[in-house]
Amino acid sequence: MITKPTIDRIMEATDIVEVIGEFVQLKKRGANYVGLSPFANERTPSFTVSPAKGIFKDFSSGKGGSAITFLMELEKFTYPEALKWLAKKYGIEVEETIESTENREEENRRESLMIVSGYAAKFFHESLLDTDEGQSIGLSYFKERGFSNETIKKFELGYSPDQWEAFTGQALKDGYQEEFLAETGLSVKRDNGSLYDRYRGRVMFPIHSFTGRVIAFGGRTLKSDKNVPKYVNSPESEIYHKSNVLYGLFFAKKAIREEDNCYLVEGYADVLSVHQAGIENVVASSGTSLTVEQIRLISRFTKNITILYDGDAAGIKASLRGLDMILQEGLNVKVVLFPDGHDPDSFVRNFGTNGFKKHIDENKKDFILFKTDILLKEAGNDPIKKAEVIREIVESIAKIPDSIKASVFIKECSYQLQIDERALLSELNKMRSAKAKKDGQQGFRTAPADEPQFDEPEVRIERADEFTQEKEIIRLLLLYGNKVIDWDGIANTYIGPFMIAELSDVEFENTTCKVFVEIYRREVENGVLPDEQYFIHYADKEIVDLAVNQIATKYTLSENWYEMHKILVNDEQVNMKATILGAIFHLKKQKVGKILEGLRKELQNTSAEADQEILLNQYMHMKKVEKTISDYLGSVILK
Ligand code: UTP
Ligand code: MN
Repeated sequence: MITKPTIDRIMEATDIVEVIGEFVQLKKRGANYVGLSPFANERTPSFTVSPAKGIFKDFSSGKGGSAITFLMELEKFTYPEALKWLAKKYGIEVEETIESTENREEENRRESLMIVSGYAAKFFHESLLDTDEGQSIGLSYFKERGFSNETIKKFELGYSPDQWEAFTGQALKDGYQEEFLAETGLSVKRDNGSLYDRYRGRVMFPIHSFTGRVIAFGGRTLKSDKNVPKYVNSPESEIYHKSNVLYGLFFAKKAIREEDNCYLVEGYADVLSVHQAGIENVVASSGTSLTVEQIRLISRFTKNITILYDGDAAGIKASLRGLDMILQEGLNVKVVLFPDGHDPDSFVRNFGTNGFKKHIDENKKDFILFKTDILLKEAGNDPIKKAEVIREIVESIAKIPDSIKASVFIKECSYQLQIDERALLSELNKMRSAKAKKDGQQGFRTAPADEPQFDEPEVRIERADEFTQEKEIIRLLLLYGNKVIDWDGIANTYIGPFMIAELSDVEFENTTCKVFVEIYRREVENGVLPDEQYFIHYADKEIVDLAVNQIATKYTLSENWYEMHKILVNDEQVNMKATILGAIFHLKKQKVGKILEGLRKELQNTSAEADQEILLNQYMHMKKVEKTISDYLGSVILK
């Protein structure tokens, strides 16, 4: 666990405008900054950052929180990952303690595996650059392939010496445990239990998680012997699930977001060459066919994928089916073919950045049209085959969730297939209703295909719900908890502890509110008064959300409404006693109301007279309590 002093140092250094500014273009407006939501498609900015409070609020998606929450939402970091990202940005050294609960143990195992992998990457990288063997064999190979020093450094390329135990021996000497060396696959166990290196005499491509940590390797042989596998890759492990990883994503994600497009290539070498040419929004599926997880990974950053194929027809046909999956996820897919004998790597090296871009621009085709082309060519003049092509194409189009987009494709394909648009449409509708029926049987509700899709309204106003009263308590604790009370009769205490004490007989029903109040109570017992910032930076996302939602309303964060809000705030501050006691007793009244309701139901269902009498007594008692509260509320509010 990251230590408290480290977290404090990170919080202190963090400038939320600076952090969010790395991802969103922000414009100053009054005391705040606004920009286009990175979480939703919008044309008018509803994304607001308040440097004074250290929070952001996205009125489009409803998300909000601290700089840490932002990183967790956008980059899908865990809490510690977000902290580490900030620590790196601000040059703060991270101190961690080890806890020994079971959960921790698993965390620690994963952490150990990552540490071993990071160590190995460093070992291979140094052996590439600093040893004679590495330089003469590995480095000269990379140079020959045209990789610059910068690329080699950035992607941490390496070389594993051509010996049985060069790496394993060193790692054991440096205190790394056999268990972790074996689990990562860096070392392999012999029958007698000893370990040897998996990658011998290979150049090494570390595979980074999308937060930038090394989790696996691909090792390429330098031999042209057909019996030697070209690449040896890390086995699946607790930290490496091949189907969830895209090679190069860590280095590409910023550019993917900026360009709003992701190039998908096949191999490590393709990623490196294209990236080195200045086209950084490129990732590789590493030779396996694309998985849904990988597509979802990309779709966090963009909805546009451009697949770059080398000109090998067999490979393309095989992958056409898999691509329907991308359509199903609602992404836009374009395809670019490279001339026979070329892959993206060789093409960009031969024709340069501009030649490469030009080729893509001139040859990119929408996936559906591309597929139609290929299948049509194959079918030739055979009418039966052609009918089959039409069915396949419509099947692909039917997978597109956006019905307007689908109808555009129908139009274009009808031209390409030389078949009446209405015929295609009726085929499409048949497939859709068959699909809807099938989904329906599985218990899913599917929207009719032609139901227009409306965007979410720009501002979501939180509706009053049964927890409104509980949330009001949270809001007051956040805003006024550390103000001193100076009311007639009550003085010399803080509002927060006062409220907590007054509410000790109230059971909060909303889980997050309940946890919030428990945290507050615990801190008060420790002699601490937790403030806004305490909760905005709390490690639990639900708590942060609750806090931010109570603090950040359209009124507090939007300049236009600000004046109006000031009046509102002034209002409630003028009679603080009424505000605080009012909230407390409204909540109590609500709880009493619920108890009464319960008693009423019980009374109806009980026939034994003795029981009825007891219930009736309880009922009368609670009625009195309710009356007392109402009277009290009346007197407090009217004063
Ligand atoms: P390629 O054979 O196209 O490799 O396989 P490449 O990266 O272009 O390598 P060069 O240009 O010959 O050096 C594409 C990808 O398929 C995976 C690797 O991820 C490779 O980058 N692959 C290929 C394997 O995992 N194992 C293999 O034996 C071959
Ligand atoms: Mn290649």
